[in-house]
Amino acid sequence: MITAALASRAEVIKWMESFVSEKLSEFLKTVEDSWQPADLLPDATMDTFLDEIKDLRERARDLSYDLMAVLVGDTITEEALPTYESWLMTIDGLPQDPNGPWMKWNRGWTAEENRHGDALNRYLYLSGRINMREMEASTQYLIADGFDLQTDSDPYRSFVYTSFQETATNISHRRVAQIAKRQGDLQLAKLCGHVAADEARHAKAYKAFVSKIFEADPNEMMLAFEDMMRKKIVMPAHYMRELGVDLGKTFGHFTDAAQRIGVYTSADYTDILEGLIDEWKIETLTGLNEAGERARDYVMALPVRLKRVAERMKVPSLEYKFRWIA
Ligand SMILES: [Fe+2]
Ligand SMILES: [Fe+2]
Repeated sequence: MITAALASRAEVIKWMESFVSEKLSEFLKTVEDSWQPADLLPDATMDTFLDEIKDLRERARDLSYDLMAVLVGDTITEEALPTYESWLMTIDGLPQDPNGPWMKWNRGWTAEENRHGDALNRYLYLSGRINMREMEASTQYLIADGFDLQTDSDPYRSFVYTSFQETATNISHRRVAQIAKRQGDLQLAKLCGHVAADEARHAKAYKAFVSKIFEADPNEMMLAFEDMMRKKIVMPAHYMRELGVDLGKTFGHFTDAAQRIGVYTSADYTDILEGLIDEWKIETLTGLNEAGERARDYVMALPVRLKRVAERMKVPSLEYKFRWIA
């Protein structure tokens, strides 16, 4: 155990190496044990391929417009993975030893995430409902535009962000799965269910990292949590746009569609926050100084405040015609 008062962030991250190493096999699946997009989609080497595609397209025809829009937005978000991996690599204090547990985590996480965009993209292509060129242009834009998560390069803020974000993606993929099932596409439901399960495991990992930091450096970790919640957690695809549309201007329409069909709402944002407060035992945290206590007070009071704001917000009803949907 390192003394909190003396701990620098780099020391804490270094100290966590044995913990991360121990937990890698719990937080990541081996390639041998992993699902692949090919398990969930028609196999082009089989004689049944064309019949399977026909069935897939028939089911996709009945999916609602907003669901298709949300699926495209989710896919573009997943496909911007190069942005997320390069961001993870710039976090201050992460030991760069390629054989060390932190780099193993970064690579393993990326390798798992890479399947998400592949699976969703291939489904959308086969569905026949998407203007693939428009979707691909949005993906290229998003990777080129990057993002601003307001975490600086701080590991504490970054892991608050990823804890929140992986939970949010778990919720949204899970809800898409439920809606796809209701609308009669069990294959899509299964695919999104598999993605959601990965996200849940990743969320568990990042939350555990933060719990560990709270053990070593409660005050600084508390201040980082407060700071991220004051700034609000932005979605990684907040710069999303279509061809001919200004930076970030498509993103709002995407989140409106997600709200309308209940895939991800402002109530979810508050639920995630409450979950993190619970998980990290913020209420009973010890070792805080005066600033840390104030940060705790702010975070503890935030869910009620957010709920009040959410009650006043209307679900956006304006339909938007996305260039992505054929
Ligand atoms: Fe993902
Ligand atoms: Fe994820």
